[in-house]
Parts: sequence; structure tokens; C-alpha cells
Amino acid sequence: MPLFSRRQWLAGAIAAPALLSIGAKAGSAAAEGPFTLGVASGDPEPDGVVLWTRLAPRPLEGDGGMQPHDVPVRWEVAEDERFARIVRFGNAPAEARWGHSVHVEVSGLAPARSYFYRFIANGIASPVGRTRTAPAPGAPVDRLRICYGSCQKYEVGYYAAWRHAVEDDPDLILFVGDYIYEGAPSPGDVRMHLNPEPFDIAGYRVRYATYKLDALLQAAHATAPWAVTWDDHEVANDYANDLDEHNGERAPFLLRRAAAYQAYWEHMPLRRRAMPHGAAMRLYRTLDWGSLAQFQIVDDRQYRSGHPCQPADLLPAHKKYLPLVADCAERHDPGRTILGSTQEAWLHQALGGSRAQWNLLTQQTLMTSYAQPDTDHPEKGADLYSVDSWGGYPAARERILRRWRDAATPNPLVLSGDIHSFAAADMADPDEAKRIVASEFVGGSITSLYHDATFKQNMMQNPGFHFAENEARGYGRMDLTQRRCEVAFRGLSNARDPDSAISTIAAFTVEAGRPGMSLA
Ligand SMILES: [Fe+2]
Repeated sequence: MPLFSRRQWLAGAIAAPALLSIGAKAGSAAAEGPFTLGVASGDPEPDGVVLWTRLAPRPLEGDGGMQPHDVPVRWEVAEDERFARIVRFGNAPAEARWGHSVHVEVSGLAPARSYFYRFIANGIASPVGRTRTAPAPGAPVDRLRICYGSCQKYEVGYYAAWRHAVEDDPDLILFVGDYIYEGAPSPGDVRMHLNPEPFDIAGYRVRYATYKLDALLQAAHATAPWAVTWDDHEVANDYANDLDEHNGERAPFLLRRAAAYQAYWEHMPLRRRAMPHGAAMRLYRTLDWGSLAQFQIVDDRQYRSGHPCQPADLLPAHKKYLPLVADCAERHDPGRTILGSTQEAWLHQALGGSRAQWNLLTQQTLMTSYAQPDTDHPEKGADLYSVDSWGGYPAARERILRRWRDAATPNPLVLSGDIHSFAAADMADPDEAKRIVASEFVGGSITSLYHDATFKQNMMQNPGFHFAENEARGYGRMDLTQRRCEVAFRGLSNARDPDSAISTIAAFTVEAGRPGMSLA
């Protein structure tokens, strides 16, 4: 048994910033030596987790300040945070070709319990992280607490949301995209990107380092395992497969995508099976939490069809695509895909095979059908559709809704990000509009802003929407038991203040076996 409960350890961590610089003000962590970017763990299984770090004594340089050869790093996993009872240890290479990142797949641990871990390189110990293994396959689980976030643009806010997520003491943290933003530095916000817009591996590494130097973000990684997926800004705004938003040449964009995917791998606690091969990286996977939950974590960027309903001259002229379009036949083409045929077949198989009580489609963009009036041309009386989200791929969305229904997937839910807003909606059966199949919870943005003041009223005019809020930043918190799912939207009072207070701005419950949410 551990000496400390998880909550006692958490309290100690806050009181002892040397252990885990969580008590620090916002800004750069003051780490010396090679562990400037902190530690992380991820993708828990019943017998182990991935442990991550990256050696970068000068993190704002493209090579991290490291020589171009591999370095052995010792890792240790213990039952106690003072490492008196080490249960697993070993050496792993920090490989120069992967930016001296370290990904250790620890096995042989006991299910459903907390562990502590650290790395040692050249006699210097890293900060200590805490992680947790998943319950044994099919094991009964009383409760699971998840915090999930997205869209943490560095320049427009501090990471107070992560401070509060740490205090919520989640078992698991999910990140559903826009971990970094790729844009050039823009003056006038609370802080600035430290390098120009990245296009190569050195540039993306510096961009990740900029974000990962933040003490509050490091603390969130050190408090619980993460399971991550990406959205567009880990590469470039609104990209679709091999096309950037300007419909540029595909070959140079794929080189950029390869650099961005490599940097993503180098900075995330992912298993080796996710390691990229050129511009390809298999990110989609399931994560099981005993009999209670299965997460189907998907990637709706890498394999998607291009944006539909575009004027014919945009693509050949390499002009920027139109994100909001009037409806057209192409949008409904059943041949269009947002997941790609291989991933979609894999997902449908997972949805048919899962016996978990809750099934959480963990993904990046708004899934519920959404349209807004064309305010520039009110005389047309037509709606506009946002084609960068599932709105560009309605047939693919309907295939999943029917799959949930036909396979009787237990209690499907959707976790989303991307729109820099909180939103909650019930999704109907495409063949029977009164029958609810799943509920979607968009968990706000950690910092990123939403600029359209008409968003809230537009969204609430769409069928199924119960809540929308685009003024508050924050994250989503979900508590699952066998009988109930409780969701709290946690909204900061001011994301420009690293010490901002937070409150629950809306809360929802879904009862197992009864599709559809109610406001708590
Ligand atoms: Fe975003």
C-alpha cells in the first residue's frame, strides 16, 4: 500500500515546489540541467504506462543544446515519491534522431494504482511525476475522473486551467487537440511565441519547448497520465490531409507535416506503435478502463477528404479555402471521409466489440450537426455550414450514429475541442429524429479565444444543443460511475491571470441506459 494517499501527495506537491514546480507563478519552470521540459506519462494499460521526457539543456535551440549522439537515461518507477520502494527501473536511450526524447513503455506494474517515476541523466534527477495504471481488463471500477482540455494558445493566456485541473486530482487527463499553435509571434497579448512560424523539425521543437517550459503545464503532466490526440494547429491551421488552408502544393506540405508529426511524437507520452514514418503517424487507438469505460481516440485530420463546396477556382489557384459554405451536393457525398476508410473500419469494429459501460469517442472537432444563418446574404435565407469540422462530412457522422445504434454500443459519448467554446448537445438517430443516440460535450479551450459574438445564439438555435458558452476559457471534467456520467464545464474568471479563480459554469448528467443529457 502507498504511504500517502493520492490526495495527500497532491497537497505535498503543492507545498513543495522543488518536487513539482506547481507552486510557481506562471512562466518558465526554473529547471536546471537537461530536464527543462518536465516529465510526462501516458496511455495507461493495466500493467504499465509510457514514461516520457526529453533532454534539452537549451530547449529554445533546434537541437535542444544536445550533441548529435544518443545518451543513456536511467528511469525508475516506485511505489512512493521518495523512491524507497523502486519496483521497476532500467535504461533507455535518448536518441539524437528523435530530439533526445525518451519513451519508456513500462510493464509489470499492478493494475489500478498510482506510481511515481523519474529519470536520471549524467547524475541529474528529473522532477518526479505521478502516474496511474488502468484497471485490469473487465474489472469492476467504482469511479473514474477525467479532465480534458484543448486549444491552449500560448500567447493569449496563462495555464490557470491546468492548475485547477491538477487540484481536481483526475485519474486521467485527455487532450483533444491544439497543444501548440503554429502561427508567427503576434505582439500585444499576454506573452509571445518565441520563434517564427515553424516549417521544419527544428522550428517545431522550439515551439513545443516554448509551451512545455510552462510550469503549470508541466505540473498537469506530472500529476496523472495523459492520452492525447491532435487537431490542426499541431501542423497548420485547418489542414485537411495533404492540403493546407491555402490549397497549396501537396508535396511541400507533406514535408512540413512530417516535421510536425515528428515533433509531436518527440514531445508526447505515446507508445512506440505511434512512432511516425515520414508524414504518416498512426495516432488512433483504444484505451480501456476496466469494465467502466473505453476511449476510442481518433484522428480526424490526417486522412480526411478535402473541404467540400468550394468555388471551382480556389484549388487550382491555391487560394484560401472557405470555412463557411452554403450547402451543396458534394458535402453529402457518401464517398467523403473524415477518418479515412481504414480508421473508420477500425472504429466501427471497436464500437461493435466494446462491452464497457461507457464508450467515449475522444476526438478533435465539433461532431453534432450545426448550421448558422448567412448574415451577409439574409435575402437568400440559406444556412452556412462549417466544413472544417464534422459539418464537412455529414455522411461519415451518420455512419457512426448508425453504428452506435445498430451495434448497441453501450452509452456512447463524444468529447471534443476545437471551437474555443463550451457546448453540450444530444445527437439524434439520422433515421429517427426523436431518438437520441449519443451526447457530445465540447470542453472549452484552455486559453484560445473565440471572436464571433453571435456564436452562442446561433448554436442554441440548432437541434439538440443544451448549452453553449464562448466567453469563458477552461476545461471539462467528467466523473463516471457504472450508473451515471457527470460533466462539469469549468470556467476561469480570467485566463489572462495565472492565478485566476474557476467555477462550474454548467453541469450535466447522463444516466446509463438512458440516452440524452439533463442539466444538473
Ligand atoms: Fe484551437
